[in-house]
Amino acid sequence: MVFSNYLAPLHDFSDLPFRRMCQGYGAKAACVPLVSSAAIAMDESRISLIDAHADERNLGVQIFGNDAKTIGRAAGIIARRLPSVSWLNLNCGCPSTRTMNDGSGSAMLRKPDLIAGAISQMKSSADLPVSAKIRIVRGAGGTLALCRKIEDAGADFIIIHGRTTNQGYSGKPDWEAVRALKEELSVPVVGNGDVTSIEGGEKRVKEGYCDSYMVGRAAMRNPMLFAGRIPAGAGERFALLAEYASLCDRYRDATGGPRLRDIKIKAMNFLSGIPGASVLRLQVSRAASIEEILGLGESAGNAL
Ligand SMILES: Cc1cc2nc3c(=O)[nH]c(=O)nc-3n(C[C@H](O)[C@H](O)[C@H](O)COP(=O)(O)O)c2cc1C
Repeated sequence: MVFSNYLAPLHDFSDLPFRRMCQGYGAKAACVPLVSSAAIAMDESRISLIDAHADERNLGVQIFGNDAKTIGRAAGIIARRLPSVSWLNLNCGCPSTRTMNDGSGSAMLRKPDLIAGAISQMKSSADLPVSAKIRIVRGAGGTLALCRKIEDAGADFIIIHGRTTNQGYSGKPDWEAVRALKEELSVPVVGNGDVTSIEGGEKRVKEGYCDSYMVGRAAMRNPMLFAGRIPAGAGERFALLAEYASLCDRYRDATGGPRLRDIKIKAMNFLSGIPGASVLRLQVSRAASIEEILGLGESAGNAL
């Protein structure tokens, strides 16, 4: 089961209101960003860390960890406690020092047996499709050997970010490597890395690079891309911000209502790459309230 496109898990960004926005514009699937398997396995009440909502469709939850049994236990709890979740993902790609030092995230790429063990534990404890999100691995064994292990462990699909751990989020993703993997594997491959439009993602699928695609940073700047749209100017970008704020309000039970910090983070992204962005972003960063930020949109809209 793969969907035709995915909103990427984006820590501190793809929260419930943002996912609902992207889903509203046509994202076919989305994923709750990384949640600690240890936290959930040790204390079931920590399931509250996951902001999944019944309004969401084709929602995945991504977990991270460094112990296969703990990861499996957390997967079982999520599947049992959150009926709105329809697939699970294991994070094997986070390059942050904190995650790597803990032996989880991208550090797992050096331990294919650990990844395979975790996938197999997830499969046996949760009656849901299970996937791994990996990066390209250079050198001994390489990505293909790793993917085969993941496949043999029972994964239903594999999400491949076409960059190495060392690349972080910069440099070009290696789509030729993604294509070579897709050709060899029997499970579907979701390709990820610098997809900036629906047309671009669909072209990757049509040209045989992957079975589906995942969009990260381009959606952070423009959630409308899932509808094939680019917001016209500052006015429309502030309208996106107002839409996000209103969704924070609508899902108040989960979000606690719109928060200045979140609105600022979204504004910094939505307002990037347009004329006058630097001035607007400075004004946003100095704003003391959400009303003040949304008010900037009225003057920006009138100026257009
Ligand atoms: C702010 C930010 C947060 C991210 N958080 C996660 C995460 O929680 N889990 C994960 O697997 N990848 C995470 N990623 C990586 C993205 O899911 C994606 O793989 C990466 O950005 C490449 O896709 P892109 O080129 O379309 O942005 C994050 C990336 C960014 C920029």
